[in-house]
Amino acid sequence: MSETKPSLYEQIGGEAGIASMVDDFYERVLADPELEPFFKHVPMDRLNRMQREFFSAATGGPAEFTGKPLSHVHQNIGITIRHFQRFTEHLIETLEERDIDEKEILDLISRVNVYADEITGSSSVDG
Ligand code: HEM
Repeated sequence: MSETKPSLYEQIGGEAGIASMVDDFYERVLADPELEPFFKHVPMDRLNRMQREFFSAATGGPAEFTGKPLSHVHQNIGITIRHFQRFTEHLIETLEERDIDEKEILDLISRVNVYADEITGSSSVDG
């Protein structure tokens, strides 16, 4: 018998789990007064769809990310490292509430941290 550990995608609960995780996550992000202003004029339907694809692909699921390059969408909107860190903290909390292995959470965070430079661009210094 194979004892392959379920992927993070499977632990989250497949497509349905990812969808509900993304909903929870954005509820937290939009409740954060430092992050909410970035999303004021953003079409949330598309963002939600793109985030589902992104997190499905990033957790070992079947979806392919068809969105725009992350460096483009986040360019010149003033995201600092501090915003980035708050964003990933909300992600960690979302996953911790779902009984996901701590190691899987850390793996995912290190995968998204790879995008820190692209997302914060030239605004990586606060103030
Ligand atoms: C690990 C970190 C992040 C990931 C993986 C991520 C991922 C994404 C994805 C997949 C999209 C949709 C791309 C598309 O529409 O094709 C997006 C859009 C967006 N993200 Fe992020 N993001 C991250 C961090 C942040 C942070 C820290 C902020 C702001 C505080 C932010 C603000 C936005 C905004 C405002 C949009 C919409 C842009 C637009 O539609 O013009 N993101 N992000």
